[in-house]
Amino acid sequence: MQVTRRAVLAGAGALAVRPAWAATPPRLELEPRRGEVQLGPEGTGPARIWGYGGAVPGPEIRVRQGGRVAATLVNGIDQPTTVHWHGIRIDNAMDGAGHLTQMPVEPGARFDYDFTVPDAGTYWYHPHFQSWEQVARGLYGPLIVEEAEPPEVDRDLVLILDDWRLTAEGGLDEESFGSGHDWSHAGRLGNWPTVNGLPQPEIPVKMGERLRLRLISAANATVMVPRLDGMRAWRIAVDGQPAPVVEQAGEFLLAPGQRVDFIADIVAEDARLMLAGRENFVMATFPAEGEMRREALGMPAPLPPNPLAEPADGPDALAAEIVMEGGAMAWLAEAEVGGMVEGVSGTLDGRALAGAGLFWALNGVAGMPEAPFLDLERGRTVKLSFENRTRFPHVMHLHGHHVREAETGLWRDSVLVMPDSRLETAFVADNPGDWMLHCHMLEHQAGGMATWFRVA
Ligand code: C2O
Ligand code: CU
Repeated sequence: MQVTRRAVLAGAGALAVRPAWAATPPRLELEPRRGEVQLGPEGTGPARIWGYGGAVPGPEIRVRQGGRVAATLVNGIDQPTTVHWHGIRIDNAMDGAGHLTQMPVEPGARFDYDFTVPDAGTYWYHPHFQSWEQVARGLYGPLIVEEAEPPEVDRDLVLILDDWRLTAEGGLDEESFGSGHDWSHAGRLGNWPTVNGLPQPEIPVKMGERLRLRLISAANATVMVPRLDGMRAWRIAVDGQPAPVVEQAGEFLLAPGQRVDFIADIVAEDARLMLAGRENFVMATFPAEGEMRREALGMPAPLPPNPLAEPADGPDALAAEIVMEGGAMAWLAEAEVGGMVEGVSGTLDGRALAGAGLFWALNGVAGMPEAPFLDLERGRTVKLSFENRTRFPHVMHLHGHHVREAETGLWRDSVLVMPDSRLETAFVADNPGDWMLHCHMLEHQAGGMATWFRVA
């Protein structure tokens, strides 16, 4: 099994010629079900996972910009589930946000997703119900939207990074699911990283080969600090959206849910994807056998822009704020409990909140409120600030839209807000519907850091 998946990985470039963007796309079946894969290091046994088609990651969905994705969720696990298409500026009804845009799909039941993809870039899909458990068990896959004219590369490689919490035998640590410590601290941090569900895969390359690397973090909570060794790399996109081309020197941050695309030229025989934060853990190796070209190709051209509306910095812009509070070392004294949380309501003190599994609040509310925190007319520019008054970093993800970070100028759908700091963004609320805004550290989301806004 591993050998086949490795071969698939190595041959991924062949996918580029597949006419996935034909007018009527074939309907794909996405079946979350149980599977068994080798995740851990040599000498450990297989792990029982949940994956789309029983594998992790799920199938790569590749479509041309402006094309359609048609996928049927066939629920083969014994929990309700949904599919959320992370980062896609999608038709609201297809967003997969459990209890907000659709009812979770019961075991054995089906749901048809069908939507068009307005932006080229690197996206991914995962459940949006009980995601702290379902994503951690392996339910996720890549969704790649190709530019009308993709940049010229020798190979286009998707690398989904994950950070598993494994037992010494190599199985999933199931005992710690729902741990109050994880929920009130940094979330479910793992102890064993993988790439495309593989432990330290070997991806053969050639000297001088030019790769497009699409990195996706499917980790529950870990902010990864990757580094590319033996490659000359330029960052060309973040969170799917084209970014000014800059040469990547050294390590960078990749928070849960975030993506980054590089054009990377192989310049050493032992190129590697490293995790700098983890005492230089080797995530993947790229052994070079043979030579593809000798001359350096130089800095790549920027990607063509996506059709995103530019926020207007006029008097009509609405200033809005998300204040993040709670968690260990800054415990909530009290908070209002969001009306979508079953079984509890009203204002609770910290102890009662903790008893309900709620440790975090956004604007004084723990959990999904019954009413949106913003009710916007379509086309309104929102200047959205995030203020982190907790002791932990949070990666705030909003659905259906991308925001422009004031400081970096980058478009993102998932912004990393460091402890005791503030981050300013702006976006145009031009996609009608009800959209979630939550921390993508999935235990934080479940522990209260979730809200939503409405665009008329
Ligand atoms: Cu990747 Cu609301 O999720
Ligand atoms: Cu968080």
